[in-house]
Amino acid sequence: MLIISWVMLLMFGVLLLVNVVTREELHRSIEDQVDQALVQEIEEFVGVAAGGVNRSTEEPYTSVEELIDSHLQRQFPDDDEVVVGVLPNGGIVRQDRGEPYQFASRPDRVRQVVADADDVGSLHTDEGELRWRKVAVQPPVGEDRPGHFIVGFAIDRDRAEIADTMRTLTVVSLVGLILAGVGAYVVSGRILAPIRLVRNAAAEISEKDLTRRIEVSGRDDVSALAEQFNAMLDRLSEAFATQRRFLDDAAHELRTPITIVRGHLELMGDDPDERAAVMRLVTEELDRMSRIVEELLVLAKAERPDFVTPQAVSVAELTVDIHSKVRALGDRRWLLDSVGEGTARVDPQRVTQAMIALAHNAVGHTADDDEIRLGSSLYAGVDGTPTVSFWVTDAGPGISPEDRDRIFDRFQRGPRRHGSPGSRAGAGLGLAIVRAIAEAHHGEVKVQSTPGQGATFGIEMPASIPLERPEP
Ligand SMILES: Nc1ncnc2c1ncn2[C@@H]1O[C@H](COP(=O)(O)OP(=O)(O)OP(=O)(O)O)[C@@H](O)[C@H]1O
Ligand SMILES: [Mg+2]
Repeated sequence: MLIISWVMLLMFGVLLLVNVVTREELHRSIEDQVDQALVQEIEEFVGVAAGGVNRSTEEPYTSVEELIDSHLQRQFPDDDEVVVGVLPNGGIVRQDRGEPYQFASRPDRVRQVVADADDVGSLHTDEGELRWRKVAVQPPVGEDRPGHFIVGFAIDRDRAEIADTMRTLTVVSLVGLILAGVGAYVVSGRILAPIRLVRNAAAEISEKDLTRRIEVSGRDDVSALAEQFNAMLDRLSEAFATQRRFLDDAAHELRTPITIVRGHLELMGDDPDERAAVMRLVTEELDRMSRIVEELLVLAKAERPDFVTPQAVSVAELTVDIHSKVRALGDRRWLLDSVGEGTARVDPQRVTQAMIALAHNAVGHTADDDEIRLGSSLYAGVDGTPTVSFWVTDAGPGISPEDRDRIFDRFQRGPRRHGSPGSRAGAGLGLAIVRAIAEAHHGEVKVQSTPGQGATFGIEMPASIPLERPEP
């Protein structure tokens, strides 16, 4: 409605301008025309007077009276025009269609014009303005007084015509304005109807009921909008569902150790040995819980843009660094496979965190003195972009093809591991964190495994990632 009002206002302004300008233009052109007509008549008369020959007799004029008489007889003035001759003796000769304001029949007015000092002027009569022009006729030898030739034009009559035209124009403009208003109202109603539909549907879709969708028909902008809106709802409900699942899983994972701790404490007797055993178990469970909480926090943070802060690091140094850190995870034969030479823009802390999680898994799937190999390399990846990768290889049981994708999801654990003594099952968050770190670097996780012969888990990412994470 607001738009229509503005359009109407604008149209009104434009039409007003058109009306005013047209009116001014018409008036100006009337003035010009009248002036021209007057000048033309006068010039014609002056020409005839200068010729000095009476065109009916082919003899030279003998008097002013003759000149004026014979010229006037040849005039055929328009409706609103009057041609008047004033003879030297004061007599008035006229030529008109009887109309223009009885000017010629009023000797006082004619004399007023003759007496005027100017050659051009206007006379205000009861019936309106009369524009005139005059010229004095010098007498031939023998006469003493001059005559006058006057042309008059009833300009108000033309003005009345303009007023008529303007009235028509105004009426047409107003009718046009009203029609345009009605048209705009109808058309905008049709255009806005689908938008209103979208709006109403959007209003009905509440946080609790994200399953509703807007019906899409046609392929115009509005249905594109509705489609976008539906897609947004899809993402939104997906996000809500993920969040809910995440919370459920987290609650479940944390509840298990709490139940275990509680059960043991409730059943604990007085035997000091038993107490010591329960204490050990409880401490272990609490450690596990705090690890889960820690990991959950990392995962929650993974959604944030500042999850990784890439900086230029030497791949070789970083690899050696990681190698020395993971040794503390268990008694294994820690070997360095290969080391990438060069610099990469990555977040060294997050890469280390990912590698520790991988090494942790490798430890969990191998026994004492088994071999675990670490490595890194820097190479030209697909379409030539410099790529850096880090990996951990173990000789454990490996991972079956059907589990390969699943284990990277949160709270997803594989089949029971044979495990080294003392190793308790994790929450299944380690690989999810590894994947989050790789993706924050615009990279991905890689896993290669022949079941029964070990596995290689790795992360692979562009060696120089942009500072900003692009919109997903
Ligand atoms: N090196 C490996 N060899 C064989 N299976 C593995 C290996 N690493 C991980 N897995 C399988 O993938 C599953 C998921 O690993 P992930 O690191 O996500 O969880 P987790 O180690 O069980 O728990 P968390 O890491 O949270 O303590 C593991 O439960 C295991 O079944
Ligand atoms: Mg793990």
